[in-house]
Amino acid sequence: MKQLSFLVIFLFLLCGSSADIQALEKCQICHSKKEIHRAEETGRKVPLYIDESIIARSVHNDKDCTDCHNDINEIPHKVVKKVNCRRCHYTGNPVGAPDGKMYDQYEHSVHGMAVLNGNEKAPVCQDCHGDHDVYSHKTIESKFYWQNIPKTCGTCHMDIYAVYKESTHGRAVADGIKDAPVCSDCHGEHNIKKHNSDESRVSDARISQTCTECHGTQGVVNKYNIKTDRAATFEHSFHGVGLQMGSKTVANCASCHDYHDIRGEDDPKSSVHPDNIPKTCGKEGCHPGASAEFSSGQQIHINPKSEESGIIYYISKAFLVLTVSVLLGLLAFIAMDLFRRAKNARAKR
Ligand code: HEC
Ligand code: HEC
Ligand code: HEC
Ligand code: HEC
Ligand code: HEC
Ligand code: HEC
Ligand code: HEC
Ligand code: HEC
Repeated sequence: MKQLSFLVIFLFLLCGSSADIQALEKCQICHSKKEIHRAEETGRKVPLYIDESIIARSVHNDKDCTDCHNDINEIPHKVVKKVNCRRCHYTGNPVGAPDGKMYDQYEHSVHGMAVLNGNEKAPVCQDCHGDHDVYSHKTIESKFYWQNIPKTCGTCHMDIYAVYKESTHGRAVADGIKDAPVCSDCHGEHNIKKHNSDESRVSDARISQTCTECHGTQGVVNKYNIKTDRAATFEHSFHGVGLQMGSKTVANCASCHDYHDIRGEDDPKSSVHPDNIPKTCGKEGCHPGASAEFSSGQQIHINPKSEESGIIYYISKAFLVLTVSVLLGLLAFIAMDLFRRAKNARAKR
């Protein structure tokens, strides 16, 4: 390896010093060599071979090497700094990089703040988007082609990805169902916040609203064989009303359904499968010691308009009949009263 770089450097010196500027364009004299690498102290070899065809297919196909590696101004070059994508990617940039609030959002996100505080494991732009392989997110090879998003976030959040992949949502995404949520549908993209922050889309106070965007009666799940009245029936339930009143301890969608491990009620591993309901309701802080009878007697998603709801359906029907008859009686009373008054008035004349 040393010999190789010395040889190339020697060739450069032969070409003369006027090669300086042009040499910048000629990174590939060295980096197109399959065997070029950097030897780490541990003995590990880090390959430095650059396949130009990857850049040629990327969104940055018209960029020079030094547009990104802009700290290289002589050949042979010294240690290269980490690329700063923000050189071009900022609001109002003149180079034609996509515009918008997203860059500022990233800076205020849980990831951006962590980077600012020196957390080396937190992602900068290229950790999520790739380095030379930044493709349009509409193409299947992009790290952010919708179906690839869970895997991309999962390179760091491995445990969560493993759980999510097996959930109803994760399996639906793998099967190509575009309406099912990937990480960013629940968490956001550049504006991801800590899960318990008030601004987070997944906080206790907001998660029910996030689920309802899809599971409401107007939501996307209408197309699938899913009970779409779940969100509305939740709102009318004891738990839903509590949540609207600002209670932070009352159950939200995720307290009962889990969040990464969401499964249909027929799945034996589901938190809402009849066998698991006592455990789910009996969670600490909820209804500790809940028995099978406790939960079997409880209707969670109550729809008073559906006969399935048993006594609640009939009580609500009875109330309807009662209300209508009281109203009719009242109207009859008023009519008779008016009639009487008119009659009396005529008699006086
Ligand atoms: C004379 C041969 C040569 C030329 C020309 C050359 N490089 Fe290098 N480059 C190397 C060698 C050798 C290394 C490994 C240095 C080391 O061991 O740390 C390297 C390392 C790098 C690294 C750092 C990789 C890492 O992980 O540390 C980057 C980035 C890089 N080169 C980019 C470029 C760019 C961009 C150009 C063109 C402007 C260029 N190089 C031109 C030989 C060359
Ligand atoms: C869109 C910006 C961009 C362009 C254009 C670009 N690079 Fe890079 N390159 C990166 C990023 C990002 C990394 C990852 C390291 C980092 O974060 O600094 C990288 C890493 C490298 C490395 C280290 C080895 C590796 O694969 O990690 C070499 C060598 C390199 N680039 C050479 C080149 C050469 C040669 C060209 C031109 C043919 C080029 N780069 C064009 C952004 C770019
Ligand atoms: C030299 C300026 C420049 C630098 C540096 C640069 N970009 Fe870009 N980037 C652009 C331009 C211009 C576009 C728009 C390309 C187009 O629409 O054809 C773009 C487009 C993109 C897109 C949009 C892809 C899509 O889905 O449509 C992403 C993502 C992106 N860049 C990420 C990065 C990352 C990550 C880095 C750092 C490794 C980086 N850029 C560095 C200029 C730059
Ligand atoms: C935590 C991962 C993550 C980080 C870090 C990140 N992004 Fe993104 N970015 C995303 C996701 C997710 C999308 C949405 C992809 C889609 O449109 O489906 C996106 C979209 C984009 C787009 C395309 C938007 C469009 O309208 O076409 C650009 C450009 C972009 N990001 C640039 C950047 C830049 C520059 C940085 C660094 C400041 C950055 N991103 C940091 C995850 C990330
Ligand atoms: C259906 C919505 C939904 C999807 C999809 C989703 N999450 Fe979450 N996520 C949540 C909720 C809700 C919480 C907060 C749980 C709590 O309050 O404890 C959370 C918490 C988190 C946390 C922090 C708490 C923890 O458990 O470590 C991380 C990190 C996270 N999610 C990453 C991901 C990643 C990565 C993906 C994709 C593989 C993903 N999420 C997909 C809803 C979702
Ligand atoms: C390069 C690794 C990396 C990638 C890629 C990454 N993250 Fe993270 N993420 C982190 C680290 C590290 C933290 C912890 C930051 C902190 O709190 O200091 C974090 C924090 C989070 C949190 C907040 C955790 C909490 O406790 O509430 C969420 C949510 C999250 N990430 C979601 C995502 C999603 C969604 C994606 C994909 C769009 C993603 N991450 C991509 C490394 C990554
Ligand atoms: C107090 C616990 C609890 C809360 C809170 C809750 N659910 Fe449920 N959910 C259940 C139980 C138990 C079932 C299974 C029995 C049923 O269908 O009523 C269920 C069933 C469902 C189903 C149908 C599943 C299937 O396999 O057919 C969907 C969809 C659903 N809930 C979505 C939601 C959404 C969205 C929210 C928040 C707006 C929510 N749930 C709030 C306990 C809850
Ligand atoms: C981006 C839209 C979207 C979001 C956000 C979303 N879901 Fe879903 N959900 C779907 C789709 C689509 C399916 C159907 C997947 C399939 O089976 O094909 C589904 C399936 C389900 C099922 C299984 C239903 C069954 O009959 O098997 C439950 C339970 C569920 N979601 C609950 C939730 C909860 C709780 C949340 C919030 C934490 C949530 N979902 C957020 C779109 C969404």
